[in-house]
Amino acid sequence: EAEEAPAVCDGTIESNHSGYSGSGFCDTPNETGASSEFTVDSESAGEAEVRVRFANDSSSGARGADVVVNGATVDAASFETTGSWSTWRTKTLTVPLEEGENTIDLVATGSEGLPNIDYLEHVLPDDGGGDPVRYEAEDAPAVCDGTIDTNH
Ligand code: GCU
Repeated sequence: EAEEAPAVCDGTIESNHSGYSGSGFCDTPNETGASSEFTVDSESAGEAEVRVRFANDSSSGARGADVVVNGATVDAASFETTGSWSTWRTKTLTVPLEEGENTIDLVATGSEGLPNIDYLEHVLPDDGGGDPVRYEAEDAPAVCDGTIDTNH
């Protein structure tokens, strides 16, 4: 949760827009460099997926952030508008983690700051070690209430 230690919200913890989990969300100031930081404990070193839940009703569109892991910028994320401050989405990022404690910092690259940040989830590797199972939308038993197209 962005509002609970060891997470650090470089802003205020708010609860004035519904739909957040926990007790609130991180509302950063509208400025470049504003950040929301998470501490993630990883059992192993390697690439990992994390999901960031956010809301962005900014009329000026997407808000950008550097993804800084253990002090190094590893990626640039773009948080699109979600249509309202109470409409939340998750964005999946791939980050290199060390074994043990890691910091993952989202740092605003635009003067509007970050979107509102609800939480970060660390997606743990599948214990079975298998590949994910893919279900094509166009193949039974999937059902498409429309047409199967190939024009894009
Ligand atoms: C509004 C909104 C806040 C949001 C802010 C922003 O003030 O109520 O929740 O953080 O805009 O632009 O970041």
